[in-house]
Amino acid sequence: MSKIAVCPGSFDPVTLGHLDIIKRGASVFEKVYVCVLNNSSKQPLFSVEERLELLREVTQDLPNVEVDSFKGLLIDYAASKNAKVVLRGLRAVSDFEYEMQITAMNRKLNEDIETLFMMTNSQYSFLSSSIVKEAAKYKGNISDLVPAAVDRELKKKFTEL
Ligand code: PNS
Repeated sequence: MSKIAVCPGSFDPVTLGHLDIIKRGASVFEKVYVCVLNNSSKQPLFSVEERLELLREVTQDLPNVEVDSFKGLLIDYAASKNAKVVLRGLRAVSDFEYEMQITAMNRKLNEDIETLFMMTNSQYSFLSSSIVKEAAKYKGNISDLVPAAVDRELKKKFTEL
């Protein structure tokens, strides 16, 4: 059995909710590729390079995690890395329909790749990159919801804009 997983997302920016899933994934799989992909329904705040840099900074203590990006389909990326598993975090019932849709499409595109879900730690069940950006934009304190590096970069971003 392949022990390689891909943890995909927009990561715009990475939150402590994402990091929780990445860490738990890294304790289950031998290798986890955290991959920044394009979600065509989202308009990102951070460039792919900025998102990669933040992800690398916050996962530097996880030796079996590699941060990467890809321009095409998630399942093509997973196949190129020999990964049989796509790992996603599931927060609440509201995530279910969206996740079911991508999972069904990914399975149709490549039935050899399975999507596995981990329930997000309950303290992060309301957390999303969008809600964090919204709070940061109006100077809300989000320091216990994102890694320190992300807090810093969000502050910078919203003073630049
Ligand atoms: O963090 P997100 O925005 O919920 O992640 C969604 C993402 C980026 C994983 C998804 O949009 C994706 O896989 N994009 C790449 C294109 C693709 O493979 N789409 C799914 C099948 S059409």
